[in-house]
Amino acid sequence: MAILSPEKVTIIEVGPRDGLQNEKSFVPTEIKKQFISALKQAGISEMEITSFVSPKWVPQMSDAAEIAADCLEGGERNIVLTPNAKGVERARMVNCRAVAVFVGVSNTFNQKNINKTTADSMAELTPIIKQLRADEFFVRACISTSFYCPYEGKIAEEDTVNLCRQFALAGVDELSVADTIGMAAPHESFSLFSTLKNELPNILLTAHFHDTRKMALTNIYAALQAGVDRFDTSAGGLGGCPFAPGAAGNAATEDVVYMLERMGINTGVQLPDLIKAIDIVRPHLSRPIDSTYYRLNAQTV
Ligand code: HMG
Ligand code: MG
Repeated sequence: MAILSPEKVTIIEVGPRDGLQNEKSFVPTEIKKQFISALKQAGISEMEITSFVSPKWVPQMSDAAEIAADCLEGGERNIVLTPNAKGVERARMVNCRAVAVFVGVSNTFNQKNINKTTADSMAELTPIIKQLRADEFFVRACISTSFYCPYEGKIAEEDTVNLCRQFALAGVDELSVADTIGMAAPHESFSLFSTLKNELPNILLTAHFHDTRKMALTNIYAALQAGVDRFDTSAGGLGGCPFAPGAAGNAATEDVVYMLERMGINTGVQLPDLIKAIDIVRPHLSRPIDSTYYRLNAQTV
């Protein structure tokens, strides 16, 4: 069987949101802005820049309005994450045009993360999504615990596909399907993404892998073989959800870009400039950058 290798892959950078939400301390707003700007300089065209969530639940994102006010220019798509009507209202106030909503397939995870059952979240979000689409917003839906849940264990593929179908019916532009705790294996990645490509061919389909067990790259490769050409990644491999115990960072953008470019696939991202972006935020982080590409190529002191 021939290896599937599209000419081009889109990297959706989630470092400023998924990456920094899980840092022990608050990264200064000015540094976040410089980080976002440097990521755009490195060729990132789509990015989650921040999230409009409760500052009591996630204090690291409490400067979302300031970030959005400064970082909506440049790049093709600057996305803000919002869990509910209040989040969307805050996003509208600062003129964001691309919104990501998020729901867990697992009820228990959704309750821990958003304080609602999955069904209640869907009931709240469905009319909001319809209105956003009517107002010509770009809407992305992030599907958490698509493979495994830290509380409920293995998630049936059928349950994930059903939730994706509901979002597709509500009219979202994109599905970002997430392995929240980094537990999926390549055959599960291939199977779920093949099914989704088949069932929902008209929607942008993105894969979001956390790298807890160092299987993110293999899972990305498996998703690529299933026809996926969009990947959420985080510069420096930062990230994790504060309400998903055991979740490590996302697949590191630099490692994913390196692999894809070595395969002859264009990502539009320049690795030396990506390293410069990581170096802006690195002194403000509570953990070392341990991606392979960074370790081998950065001039760390
Ligand atoms: P709650 O306490 O149930 O909210 O939290 P509530 O509706 O009862 O309201 C309580 C207070 O919060 C009120 O203020 C609201 O106004 C306020 P008060 O009257 O007490 O002053 N509030 C808000 N403030 C700011 N922004 C908002 C907002 N909504 C209510 N949007 C809530 C419910 C959803 C707010 C809370 O649970 C929350 O913020 N959760 C977010 C958790 C989060 O950010 N998780 C990480 C992102 S998801 C992720 O990382 C996964 C992903 O990467 C994919 C993957 O890897 O799986 C996307
Ligand atoms: Mg995530």
